Amino acid sequence: IPVDPFDIVIFGGTGDLSRRKLLPALYHRYLDGQIDDSSKIIGVARTELDRQAFNDLAKKACKAHTENFDEAAWERFSERLHYLTMDATNQDADWGALKSLLAKDTRPVVFYLATTPLIYVDLCQAMARAGLNTPNTRLVLEKPIGTDLASAQAINEGVGAVFEENKIYRIDHYLGKETVQNLLVLRFANTLFEPIWSRHTIDHVQITVSESIGLEGRADYYDRSGAVRDMVQNHILQLLCLTAMEPPNNLDGDEVRTEKIKVLKALQRFTPETAKTHTVRGQYAEGLVEGDPVTSYVDTLSKDNSDTETFVAIKTGLDNWRWAGVPFYLRTGKRMKERRSEIVIQFKPTPHALFKGADQAPNRLVIRLQPDEGMQLYMQVKEPGPGGLRLKSLPLNLSYADNFLVRYPDAYERLLMDVVRGNLALFMRRDEVEAAWSWVDNLLESWHDGNQPLESYAAGTSGPLQSAMLMDRDHREWWESKR
Ligand code: BG6
Repeated sequence: IPVDPFDIVIFGGTGDLSRRKLLPALYHRYLDGQIDDSSKIIGVARTELDRQAFNDLAKKACKAHTENFDEAAWERFSERLHYLTMDATNQDADWGALKSLLAKDTRPVVFYLATTPLIYVDLCQAMARAGLNTPNTRLVLEKPIGTDLASAQAINEGVGAVFEENKIYRIDHYLGKETVQNLLVLRFANTLFEPIWSRHTIDHVQITVSESIGLEGRADYYDRSGAVRDMVQNHILQLLCLTAMEPPNNLDGDEVRTEKIKVLKALQRFTPETAKTHTVRGQYAEGLVEGDPVTSYVDTLSKDNSDTETFVAIKTGLDNWRWAGVPFYLRTGKRMKERRSEIVIQFKPTPHALFKGADQAPNRLVIRLQPDEGMQLYMQVKEPGPGGLRLKSLPLNLSYADNFLVRYPDAYERLLMDVVRGNLALFMRRDEVEAAWSWVDNLLESWHDGNQPLESYAAGTSGPLQSAMLMDRDHREWWESKR
């Protein structure tokens, strides 16, 4: 679907996010004909570069993230690229060059803040002073928006003093993933699931986002954040919201976001005592990940010690009508045995065991977000054979790769085009971000007040033993995919 011409300004244009995600995403959208030849992509950063050097940097970045890099298309795409060396938060910064590059018509102008959140407010004020907040302006904020509720509120307040809420696009890139969007389709475009999507038939829900990677050069940031701030506050809570929310009236930004925020508000809180029994903090020690030896977290940091969690497991629930009494188990970690993001809906056993003596497992729906995107609905079937009645749990298997022979666009491609189209549904509203922080603050305070221990796990495993014990106490277990 073509999109109208637009200009995009990337603050932090030479940074990691710009190189790894934004420039390659724009290049791919150009290849697919979604970026008009009159559109401009303007990198802004303090680094002294000329236009050619920025083009070279962008080319290297796009080549590294494109399977079939096309030189001729790149030449045309690179004509869209511009670069300005500028310390945008400096009071004396000259915004004239940027303003003269921007189109004078009514096309959308996207300002993407791919910088540290510490300068979001200053940047917005500087943009306002430079007269860049026009009716066509759209502002994109990267995570993390703050490090707790108070700092998130300060950012939202400062940015909100300049830009109206409906011009602010707070990105959570998980919402741009194909399979995450498919969650909405699965739930609300099929009649099968909605009637059974509640405490009546569901025993519990598991959400796992495990990563085999470590810190990837972001040690400073990560050691100040930890798994809860880095992954749970945003991606995991978003997955939980999409899994648990009520059907929205329609797909307008505010309808979807209003339903999600109701989920966040229903999430159960912790005390230092319940945090002990309902949550596990872990940090990886040395081990083998996919056959390769890796150093411990602390050694990676070159520090003597650190209290930062690289793994977390949480049992929570929702105090609302649909989900009363249904546990939601969440876990995420770095340097685990594999990269795997899954939502598991575990159904209740049948009310009456008709097949006495047969091993009968309850139904289970596994939604795999990455890798090998797909869904498996585990059913009970009779094992063939004359000797007695034996049951087996086998999946109805829906694999994306088997059905769609297309390249999956990166989450940023979809989200950037949504910004241009002015579609806010996949972006977080101010109150949503703050509600998520409020829940996370309570968890972190409970850990702090209760001196929650930090458990160790060997790199390349499924996390600390205490995580398995958390499930075991409830006579349940984590679903470990058999691939
Ligand atoms: C980011 C986190 O938001 O998400 C990273 O800061 C994490 O620590 C990444 O690795 C995971 O994203 P994806 O798309 O690889 O699952």
